[in-house]
Amino acid sequence: MIKLNNKLIVLGASVIASTFLVTSAFAATTTKVDPAAAGVYSPTKNALDGGVTYKRANGSYTAYRINEQSTKGINFGRTPTANELKAWDTDIMPDGTGLPVGSGTVDQGEELYDKDCAVCHGEFGAGGKGYPTLTGGSMASLKNQRTCPGKDAPNRTLGSYWPQASTLIWYIRDAMPYAHPKSYSPDQMYAMTAYLLAQEEIKIDGKDIEELNQDNFKKIVMPNRNGFYPNIDGPKGVENVRAFFKNPKNFGAVGTRCMTNCGKEKVAKIGNEITAVVPAYSTARDLPKVDPSKGGAVSEAQKLYEKSCAVCHKTDAMGAPAVGDKSVWVDVVAKGIDKVNHNAINGLGGMPPKGGAMGLSDDQVKDIVKFMVESSK
Ligand code: HEC
Ligand code: HEC
Repeated sequence: MIKLNNKLIVLGASVIASTFLVTSAFAATTTKVDPAAAGVYSPTKNALDGGVTYKRANGSYTAYRINEQSTKGINFGRTPTANELKAWDTDIMPDGTGLPVGSGTVDQGEELYDKDCAVCHGEFGAGGKGYPTLTGGSMASLKNQRTCPGKDAPNRTLGSYWPQASTLIWYIRDAMPYAHPKSYSPDQMYAMTAYLLAQEEIKIDGKDIEELNQDNFKKIVMPNRNGFYPNIDGPKGVENVRAFFKNPKNFGAVGTRCMTNCGKEKVAKIGNEITAVVPAYSTARDLPKVDPSKGGAVSEAQKLYEKSCAVCHKTDAMGAPAVGDKSVWVDVVAKGIDKVNHNAINGLGGMPPKGGAMGLSDDQVKDIVKFMVESSK
C-alpha cells in the first residue's frame, strides 16, 4: 500500500496513538495534576509519546496524563494536545513537505548501512536474510501483479516498486533501524537514503547521487514514479479509476456475477500455498496459579495487581517491567526491595506514584510488589 498517501497512514497512527494514550491513562484517581502544565515539554528520557510530559504535584514529570474524566457512561477521551499532534505529525510528503534540513553522503550511508542494516537486509540491500530485499529487482516483474501459477512474484524493491523517495526517507526515520527506530539524525537519514538510492543507480539530473540534502532530494524521480495503474494521483485520479473499471478487459465482464470457477484464467491467484508462516512472538506470561494453602494474602495482592497495575505491567509495551519476565526483574530486585517499594509508592519515570491508585495504602503496594517479584522469578 505504498501508493497510499503518507498522511493517511500517519493520521491513522495518530488516532490510534491518542486513543492509546487516553485509555491507558488510569481512571478514577485522586492524584491532582496541574492542568495548565499538561503538555509541557521536558526533554527527559521518560517522554514516551514523542516529547509530551505532564507535570506532577511533586514537581517531577510523567508521560501519562491523569484522566480525571468521569468513568460513567461513554467516555470519548480528550483532544490531543498541540505537542502530541506535533509528535505524530511527522510525515514527509512527495513534494518535499516535512523534509528535515540536513545532508549526507553515499559514503557515510554505506558505513551506517553496514553497521545498522546489513544484518537484516543483506549486503547492499540485496536481501537473502529473510527480511525485505531493498535493492535490485526489475520493473518488468511488476506486470505480474500477483503470483500467478508458473510466474515469479513481483520484485518490490526501491528501484522497481517505490514511486516516491519521500516514503523511503520517512520510513527510515520512523521505523528503522528495527531495534532503534527514530534514532537517526537528519544527516544520517539523508546518508542512508543516498546510499540505498545509489545502489539502485538512481540519478539526479542525470548524475550519480553522491550527496543528498533537503534541496536536491526534491529532484529525485523514482523509476516507478508513474508505474501504478490506474493512476490515482492528481486531479484526474477519480476519473482514471472510473475509466479503468469501466473497461471489462481490465477485470472481466461488467455486470455478470460469477458464482463458480470464476476467472480461473484471468484472475491471478496466489500460486504458492503459504506454509512457512512465522508466528508472532508470544507475549504470553502466565502468572503462577494461586496456591490456596498459602492463605489469602497472595490472592488479595494479585487482585489488587490486576486492578491497578496490570494495565502497564502485563507486557513491556509501556516501558514497565513486565510481570513474569525474569530477566527484567532480576535487575529491579537487585536495587534492594526497600528501594523498589519506595519507587512503587513514590513513582519513578513513567511509573506514577502507587501506579496512580492513590487509594492503596503503602502496605498494600508493598504486598503487590511482593506478588510481582514472586511471579517473576
Ligand atoms: C533487525 C532486523 C532489521 C534491521 C537491523 C533493519 N531492518 Fe529494515 N526491515 C526489517 C523488517 C522486519 C521490515 C519489514 C517491516 C514490515 O513490513 O512491517 C523492514 C523493512 C524495511 C524497509 C521497507 C521495505 C519494504 O519493501 O517495505 C526499509 C526501506 C528498511 N527496512 C530499511 C532499513 C534500513 C535503512 C535499516 C538500517 C538503518 C534497516 N532497515 C534495518 C528489519 C530490519
Ligand atoms: C501507568 C503505567 C503503570 C502503572 C498503572 C503501574 N506501573 Fe509500575 N511501572 C511503570 C513503569 C513505566 C515502570 C518503569 C519505571 C522506570 O524504570 O523508569 C514501572 C516500574 C515499577 C516497579 C519497579 C521499580 C523499580 O525500582 O525499578 C515496580 C515495583 C512497580 N512499577 C510497581 C507497580 C505497582 C505495585 C503498581 C500498581 C499499584 C504499578 N506499578 C502500576 C508503569 C506503571
